[in-house]
Amino acid sequence: MSGKTILVTGGSRSGKSRHALHLAANTKNPKIFIATAEPLDEEMAERIQKHQDERGKEWVTIEEPLDPAKVLNEKATKPGFILLDCITLWLSNMIMKDMTRQDILERVHDFIEECKNSTSDIIVITNELGSGIVPLEPSARSFRDIAGETNQLLASEFDEVVSMVSGIPVTIKTSSKTNDAEQIQDNNQKHEFSPERKQGLYEAIYKRRDMRHFISKPIDPEKLGRVLDAAHNAGSVGYMQPWNFLVITDPTVKNKIALNFKNANEEAAQKFSGDQKNLYNSLKLEGIQDAPVNICVTCDRTRFGPNVLGRNTVFETDLFSTCCAVQNLWLAARAEGLAVGWVSILSNEQLKEDLDIPDHIQPVAYLCVGHTESFYSKPMLETAGWGQRLPVEKLIYYNKWQGTSTDFKVEFTAPYKND
Ligand SMILES: Cc1cc2nc3c(=O)[nH]c(=O)nc-3n(C[C@H](O)[C@H](O)[C@H](O)COP(=O)(O)O)c2cc1C
Repeated sequence: MSGKTILVTGGSRSGKSRHALHLAANTKNPKIFIATAEPLDEEMAERIQKHQDERGKEWVTIEEPLDPAKVLNEKATKPGFILLDCITLWLSNMIMKDMTRQDILERVHDFIEECKNSTSDIIVITNELGSGIVPLEPSARSFRDIAGETNQLLASEFDEVVSMVSGIPVTIKTSSKTNDAEQIQDNNQKHEFSPERKQGLYEAIYKRRDMRHFISKPIDPEKLGRVLDAAHNAGSVGYMQPWNFLVITDPTVKNKIALNFKNANEEAAQKFSGDQKNLYNSLKLEGIQDAPVNICVTCDRTRFGPNVLGRNTVFETDLFSTCCAVQNLWLAARAEGLAVGWVSILSNEQLKEDLDIPDHIQPVAYLCVGHTESFYSKPMLETAGWGQRLPVEKLIYYNKWQGTSTDFKVEFTAPYKND
C-alpha cells in the first residue's frame, strides 16, 4: 500500500518545519529527513544544525541537494516517514547548476512519481514565493515562476496540502487516506474521546454545582427534553429504567412543596446547636419557588415485576439506578447552562401526598431547575465554611480495605480541571 503524501507550504518562518515534525511525531517507524540545503556559509550551517537539534535522534538525515527522487527510490520501500525540507532550496540548487527549466521540471515529475509510489508517508516542505512584489532581476523572476509551477504540480498530485499561516496549519486539501502516525494513534486511542470532547465532559463534571439561586428566565422546553433524555440514558439494574420525571411548574404545587421544606428544615435545624446551628440557619438550602421548573425524580420499585435481573441480592439497586439518572440530568443541565439544586430536606410522605404519588413509587430526588445569574465556583457549603472536599488520594485503597500498593498506583494530574 502506498503511503500518504502531504505538502506543507507557507512563507518563511511560518512554522512549516515544526508542523511537519509534529505530523511525524506519533510514528515509531523509521524517520528519514532529506535535507536539500547545503551548508555553503556559516549562517546556513548554523540553521541546519539548529534544525537537526530540533528533530532529535530518531531522525536519519540524508543530504541530497539535487536528486531526492533517487533517495526515495532507495529508501521509501517501508512504512515510515520521509520528510523533505525543502523544495525551494532544491530548485535553487538545480538553477545554480545551470540546469534548464525543462530538465528541472522533468526532475520534479520524477520526484512526484517516486512520492506517489512510496510505501512511506512523504511530507514535503515548500515556500510560497509569489505573494510579494515582482522581482526586478530576470533570474529572480524565473526562480519565482518555477517555484510556483512546482508547487502547483505538487499540490495537485499530493493527497494533502497544508498552508501555514503565522504558525497555524490551514488544511487546503484533504484525503481519506490515513497516514502511518494517524493509524498508530487511531489504534492506540480507538475508544478514547478527542481532547476537545473530553474537555467538554470533564468541564460539565467539574463545573456542575448544586444551585439554590435562580433567575426568572423560563426554560426552553427543547433544552429540558435533551436533559431528561440524557437522564433516561443512565444505566439501570436489569435495564429496569425505574424512573419517572414529574415536571412541576404550577406555583400552587410549588408552594405546597416549599411549606413541606420549611417544616422539615425547622426540624433539621434542631439537630445542631451553637455556632453550627446559626450557620445552618444562615444557609439557603432550596430554590423551590424561584426556579421556573421543579422536577421530582421517582423510582418505581415494582417496574417489570418482582424478579429483575441483577436485583436479587441488592434490592435497592433500583434506587441506585435512579440516582444515576439524576446525575446524568445534573451534568447535562450544566452543559446546557441550566442550574440544578437537589432538595432532600422534605418529608417524603408529604411530598407523595402533594404530588399524588402512589404507594409503590418512591420519590428519589426533588430538583429545582432554572437559569442562574452565575454558577458558584465552589460548593456553596465550602464557601459558607460548612465543609471541605476530602483529598481524593486518602479515599483510595488497594486490594483490601485500607490496603496500600507498591506496584500500581493511581496518579492525579487532572489536566481537564480548570479552577
Ligand atoms: C442526595 C443529595 C441531597 C441533597 N440535598 C440537599 C438539600 O436538601 N439542600 C441543599 O441545599 N443541598 C442539597 N444537596 C447538595 C449538596 O449539599 C451538594 O451537592 C454538596 O454540598 C456539594 O456541592 P456541589 O454539588 O456544588 O459540588 C444534596 C445533594 C445530594 C447528592
